[in-house]
Amino acid sequence: MTKLLFLGDPGIDDAVAILCAGHWCDLVGVVAGHGNAPAEVTARNALALVELAGLDVPVARGCPRPILGPSPVSGAALHGGSGIEGGALPEPSRPLDPRRGVDLLIDLARAHAGELVVAVTGAHTDLALALRLEPRLSSWLRAVTVMGGTAGPGNARPMACTNILADPEAAAIVAGSGLPLFWIGFELSRTVLLGEADLARLEAGGKVARALAPALRHYRDRYRRIYGLDGAPVHDALALLPVARPERVPPGIVRHEPATLEVVCDHGPARGMTIVDRRGIRAPEELPVDRRPARPNVVWAVEVDRAAAVDAVVAALSSYP
Ligand code: BDR
Ligand code: CA
Repeated sequence: MTKLLFLGDPGIDDAVAILCAGHWCDLVGVVAGHGNAPAEVTARNALALVELAGLDVPVARGCPRPILGPSPVSGAALHGGSGIEGGALPEPSRPLDPRRGVDLLIDLARAHAGELVVAVTGAHTDLALALRLEPRLSSWLRAVTVMGGTAGPGNARPMACTNILADPEAAAIVAGSGLPLFWIGFELSRTVLLGEADLARLEAGGKVARALAPALRHYRDRYRRIYGLDGAPVHDALALLPVARPERVPPGIVRHEPATLEVVCDHGPARGMTIVDRRGIRAPEELPVDRRPARPNVVWAVEVDRAAAVDAVVAALSSYP
């Protein structure tokens, strides 16, 4: 079973994804950093959630800011100031792991060398710093799976998604790491929505599902008002589908294609944009040099079976008492 380190910024859909990770994978740790809310808030949310769900994994606070400058994003408009607006999460009774997120990541990768997958559903800061601090890390990790970026419209900027704008330099380090990278962008993830029947099922479920249901209603309301979408998105959980246990999640819900991904790190209006080259060019040598794509560095999600993804997420949340 996939050993998974979750690196996110809970965040309503990150919280859903952590619960999915606990059900679909062998979750071995959580690092919560800056993004939807400040790192101390997202770390507290992660800790409260794993405790409520009975997941016995270390939770460490991630880096509080990006590699350059202060954090340029906030999820308050969508996730509320607490990061999980409306969620009924108890005060955590145990402390955060004393290690910094970057150190927990390196320790777990060393302990599970060849097996560990890192799921990135927030800023890439901790993974990028870990790759710089520990040169053996890229040989220890099996893969990285990311929710972030967009090959279409963005959320933070016209063509940039929050998770990349949060720290473009870090995302560029991950994109250039040479690691096997699964990647799902906002243009596709925003099409997978929990509707009224799904929310009602969670409200009739166990205490864990019931604790998150009001937050998902809040998220749905915000997406309705801001984007005109009718449902609560589950962006971050979708990043886990390619590495989920086949007994729990039918394989093939998401279809990927090789692509070349470049992160725009300049300081103009395109900062944080992901340029995703999916031209499908078969004979680059027949093109002038300046029109040839670089070698693919990611597999990019191009299609998702929405009903199957929603079913898998609702089943995961309903699996908790
Ligand atoms: C991403 O932005 C964040 O607000 C969500 O948690 C998700 O990771 C969607 O674009
Ligand atoms: Ca997130």
